[in-house]
Amino acid sequence: MANLVVVGTQWGDEGKGKFVDILSEQAHTIVRFQGGHNAGHTIKVSNTTYKLSLLPSGIIRSDKTAVIGNGVVLDPWELLKEVRLIESMGVKISPERLIIADNIPLILPYHRELDQDREKEAGNNKIGTTGRGIGPAYEDKVGRRAIRTGDLKNEEHLRARLKIALKHHNKLRAYPVQEDWLFEHIMDIAKDVIQYIGPVWQYLHDAMTGNKDILFEGAQGSMLDVDWGTYPYVTSSNTLAGMASIGTGVPHNKIPNVLGITKAYTTRVGEGPMETELFDEVGEHLATVGKEKGTVTGRGRRCGWFDAPLVKKTCMLNGVTGIALTKIDVLDELGTIKIYNGEGYEEHEGWLSSTFGITQYDDLPELAKKYISRIEELVGVEIVLISTGPDREETITLKDPFK
Ligand code: GDP
Ligand code: IMO
Ligand code: MG
Repeated sequence: MANLVVVGTQWGDEGKGKFVDILSEQAHTIVRFQGGHNAGHTIKVSNTTYKLSLLPSGIIRSDKTAVIGNGVVLDPWELLKEVRLIESMGVKISPERLIIADNIPLILPYHRELDQDREKEAGNNKIGTTGRGIGPAYEDKVGRRAIRTGDLKNEEHLRARLKIALKHHNKLRAYPVQEDWLFEHIMDIAKDVIQYIGPVWQYLHDAMTGNKDILFEGAQGSMLDVDWGTYPYVTSSNTLAGMASIGTGVPHNKIPNVLGITKAYTTRVGEGPMETELFDEVGEHLATVGKEKGTVTGRGRRCGWFDAPLVKKTCMLNGVTGIALTKIDVLDELGTIKIYNGEGYEEHEGWLSSTFGITQYDDLPELAKKYISRIEELVGVEIVLISTGPDREETITLKDPFK
């Protein structure tokens, strides 16, 4: 059994999409297990750039099956939009290779409106959400009033569920949602969504029985986990590796490998604390060279130095078995690079030469190797992959993370 879960060890946007794409070559099935279309995963293959929010990154390889598990919250209109977008880029998607669980809570228009209204009203206390209704949809899941994918199959049942949900939501709104309108609005797309619904847990268990490897694709980052992140400045799902089990129906002892995607510095989108944030020209340099703009909302990402105790802790929480260190090339032009080590900042001499696109460890400048080993030492986890650019090919492989 070589199942592998990929998680972000910081605040998201570490480069998960790039590595899920690379590793999906070795997997049979790629599964999303939490979050929703708040995620923005970028994959660069030669001259084509794919930006995925809801579809598992494996979808772009035509011989792979992509699965969306029950731990996700799913906006059905956004799902169909993304399917059409990716198809327009030449990727064929069919119910044979996109399977979504029947117990996924739906994100409906009132979730998005509530998310955005709350953010507007919160003023200085806002979270800085992506405004996509993620939080309210998870609230309804836990509140036992969610409409789930499987409910789309039975009109009478859907009506009954909508009544319960609207009884709650109409109290929170300036104007009520018309039940008939919403019912019709949902029925407009129900058939298109239903075609993808299948017994995900059974499918995954059958794959494992057939000795097929499953790749679990995490979204967001560990510090955005609703329990373990910088609460309340977090997302509304559990983003840690343990969620891969609950969010798909694959038992936790069947997922032995955990790849932690870790940026060689720190970024964060939205509000909330960030110990190593830079407010000077170095921060701006990282933002510019690293193209640190949110994939989903276009907001600028806050940038700062590498925070070693933070990544050490998230690696422990996730049970990370190997790290993929990304965006090392973004540090190329800095004369001094700092690492926060828990007691203070240690200064490292920059290598001041290009690492962009390097594929062999031996070709890295000595000072870059030194910086990388210092991170490995402080975090206490082996670095198995190093990323030197956005493209699939711009990668140094030291060890197979599936083993
Ligand atoms: P994710 O949310 O973790 O999948 O990450 P995003 O895709 O939101 O953000 C990572 C960004 O960095 C994307 O634009 C990637 O194409 C890019 N990227 C990934 N790895 C590297 C790298 O090693 N170097 C550079 N320069 N860019 C990278
Ligand atoms: P990927 O998968 C970075 C952040 C938002 C906000 C907080 C709550 O691309 O790494 P939400 O809309 O989830 O209720 O917003 O979480 N956030 C992300 N930040 N990358 C992401 O995803 C994120 N998904 C949510 O900016 O601070
Ligand atoms: Mg992202």
